[in-house]
Amino acid sequence: MTKKEVFECYDQYVFPTYTRLPAIFVKGKGSVLTDIDGKKYMDLFPGWGVSNVGHCHPKVMAAVRDQINKLIHIPNNFFGINQARLARELVRLAFPGKVFFCNSGAEANEAAIKFSRLFGKGERFEIITTLNSFHGRTMGALSATGQEKYQRGFAPLPAGFVTVPFNDINAVRSAVNERTAAIMIEPVQGEGGINVADVPYMKALRELCDERGLLLILDEVQTGFGRTGKMFAFQHYGIEPDIITMAKGLGGGLPIGAMLACSKHAHLLQPGMHGTTFGGSPLVAKAALGALEAIAKDKMLKNSRVLGVYLTEKLNAMKSRFPIIKEVRGLGLMIGVELTIEGKGIFETCFQNGLIINCTQGKVLRIMPALNITRKQLDKALDILEKAILKNDPSKNRGSA
Ligand SMILES: Cc1ncc(COP(=O)(O)O)c(C=O)c1O
Repeated sequence: MTKKEVFECYDQYVFPTYTRLPAIFVKGKGSVLTDIDGKKYMDLFPGWGVSNVGHCHPKVMAAVRDQINKLIHIPNNFFGINQARLARELVRLAFPGKVFFCNSGAEANEAAIKFSRLFGKGERFEIITTLNSFHGRTMGALSATGQEKYQRGFAPLPAGFVTVPFNDINAVRSAVNERTAAIMIEPVQGEGGINVADVPYMKALRELCDERGLLLILDEVQTGFGRTGKMFAFQHYGIEPDIITMAKGLGGGLPIGAMLACSKHAHLLQPGMHGTTFGGSPLVAKAALGALEAIAKDKMLKNSRVLGVYLTEKLNAMKSRFPIIKEVRGLGLMIGVELTIEGKGIFETCFQNGLIINCTQGKVLRIMPALNITRKQLDKALDILEKAILKNDPSKNRGSA
């Protein structure tokens, strides 16, 4: 197919649910993508938070190749070796409990929402979530999402969600009542503009949940698997949640999601209560095992921490040169650059010059490179970003035609 034919096919046959950039990628390796014309791009937002281990990591490829020759899918009314190994590994990496496998972040959150309903035994059902959160597009996850723009047009949404400001423990305390079953937050809001939960806030949430007998659910769909410099973001806070939801980075590029609930409550989910046909199939579970091995063998957690500091320093240095940069914030390699102007122009200039980043909430550039990116690659990307900022900074272009 030619480029023109691909665009025409999309026009005719694919829903325009996304604003697509005019690139057709045909190859990916680590942090580099190649398009149909052979042009190379540095990808600092690989797979929208999916490809933490970079594109086509050899360990993921080897795992997939090995499994694809044996067995791709078996439904969940049978046992599977890879699913068993993966569940054991996730529990080892997070906390004791049981795992439910699904196919995406939204589904992992749906599982957590349903779990909370079971926990509340029909008497308590409300879940407190936060403003600017993002939990997915399915009806339950959408209702949990604290951003009206995603909900518009889809009313009535499932009831039972209360939204309060992020990082505000008093707001949470005031929202708790006799109907409350759980509190659900992202440790670092991604879509919401890279807002990092404070340590005292997270600790206070844990205490509040213990005091009032509530579930603490952390949506680690975007923050999981080394993104913030630890395997899971909750590990920065010295607390353990009751439930974490995962997806994105888990499968090394293949679609898999999971909900892990702690041992104390794991008995609540019994046969027939929840399920999904594809969840944790031999192929995706093997890919996930490959991705976890890659994170460990390539020391990606350390890299995420060290390069996160490096990148933040470089971006802060840029901030001192460009007043349009209001703030640089983040954790590990999950970094937001808040601007005083709309970020679209900078984002588009970067793209034209071979750099992929993301822009969220209009003014926040979201930078989430693969955890095995090199300093040299980051320097190259920073160079392109700086030129794009220069080009789009109104104060630097006064008087230019
Ligand atoms: C924190 C968070 N939760 C849930 C989701 C939904 O995940 P998915 O798109 O796999 O359904 C996302 C997706 O961006 C996310 O960032």
